[in-house]
Amino acid sequence: MSEHPTHPLPSYLHSDDLGPWGIYLEQVERVTPYLGKLSRWVETLKRPKRSLIVDIPIELDNGTIAHFEGYRVQHNTSRGPGKGGVRFHQDVTLSEVMALAAWMSVKSAAVNLPFGGAKGGVRLDPRNYSRSELERITRRYTSEIGAIIGPNKDIPAPDVNTNAQTMAWMMDTYSMNEGATTTGVVTGKPVSLGGSLGRVEATGRGVYVVGCEAAHDAGIPIENARIAIQGFGNVGGTAARLFYEAGAKVIAVQDHTGGVHNANGLNVLNLIKHVEERGGVAGAPDADTISPAEFWALETELLIPAALEGQLNEDNANSIRAKIVIEGANGPTTPEADDILRSNGTLIVPDVLANAGGVTVSYFEWVQDFSSFYWTETEINHRLEAMMRAAYTSVSAVAKEHKVSHRTAAFITACTRILEAREVRGLYP
Ligand SMILES: NC(=O)c1ccc[n+]([C@@H]2O[C@H](COP(=O)([O-])OP(=O)(O)OC[C@H]3O[C@@H](n4cnc5c(N)ncnc54)[C@H](O)[C@@H]3O)[C@@H](O)[C@H]2O)c1
Repeated sequence: MSEHPTHPLPSYLHSDDLGPWGIYLEQVERVTPYLGKLSRWVETLKRPKRSLIVDIPIELDNGTIAHFEGYRVQHNTSRGPGKGGVRFHQDVTLSEVMALAAWMSVKSAAVNLPFGGAKGGVRLDPRNYSRSELERITRRYTSEIGAIIGPNKDIPAPDVNTNAQTMAWMMDTYSMNEGATTTGVVTGKPVSLGGSLGRVEATGRGVYVVGCEAAHDAGIPIENARIAIQGFGNVGGTAARLFYEAGAKVIAVQDHTGGVHNANGLNVLNLIKHVEERGGVAGAPDADTISPAEFWALETELLIPAALEGQLNEDNANSIRAKIVIEGANGPTTPEADDILRSNGTLIVPDVLANAGGVTVSYFEWVQDFSSFYWTETEINHRLEAMMRAAYTSVSAVAKEHKVSHRTAAFITACTRILEAREVRGLYP
């Protein structure tokens, strides 16, 4: 019998420039020893099921023709249709879209949603194009990937630089090609078009729920707990308000305009108004200004990075004095900082769990679209809270059982679910 060596790297990626896909592969390597007999299926996680690269030609407003590069990657669909956003960014690459699709597989499975993982992207800087040019790009992109998306196949959603309007155009284009209004092909739509109530707040609400669970686990009461939050947008702003309403003290907030601090707790409702009027937290009333270094070094019960990736890194990890970090943003902690924080005794609730509230309410949107029966916001929030709490509890149990970080535990939980599905389905043909 001849040897059949496995080749984890597809030929279309270069080993010296793996990009984000390389980080994902390392994470899979780290989890493999915990997968037991299922590890015989692990290669399936190391290659996306399907990667589509499309050319998107449109006529610009000035009459010239422009071509854009678009992608849709379905990493894994063993547990259900692909699910994941579409980003418009000038730096989008195949490696990035592959990694983001894989992280969606992990996120969906960690929260036990019946979805696989997918992601899409178009390589452009949307600030350079008019609304009607963006509409044409979105429609042609949707048409080009139309063969592989669909309510039962792969369901896109908004991501960086795309929004509810983008989803409305995608839904309309897909529906026109199908000859029938198909609301369930995308999530994150406007409510007037089959979007879900509660979707806007969902990610911040999920951050709040897992934050409460983690604090409870660590014996920290939420009442008067000191919290610092980086990012005061959709995720950070919502989480700040929910913690504030629960009696916690949000002592510092940092955004792109600077950092503000009040040791007795900021009035979050006033801060939201200030940001609406001024565009950022800088100059907020009843607050001192603090530098980034001071912000990271604050003694707090909870620290919530909810802005950008790579914010907790080798440079600041040793200065961090938070008991718990809740990752609202995607990828806010570098692997080096992860190790430093863990050895300093900080509990990190990882992004794939902490910010999964958004995809969870996207799942509710998809279910509502199928049944054409819409739930109340109270019902949605109640179901979201129950799912986030259950997800935290099961990941936390795996962390205790294997004495690993919550990040590794979330990957073990997710990869086990994906590979169990792979095994019982068997290979076709
Ligand atoms: N919105 C969602 O449903 C969702 C879901 C999952 C993950 N996320 C992740 O959460 C993060 C935040 O997303 P969002 O939807 O709240 O975005 P947003 O655009 O609403 O808000 C971003 C916030 O980050 C701040 N910010 C930007 N640059 C900064 C800088 N250099 N320093 C400090 N703060 C800075 C902005 O001022 C703003 O307050 C992103 O990583 C995103 O991928 C969002």
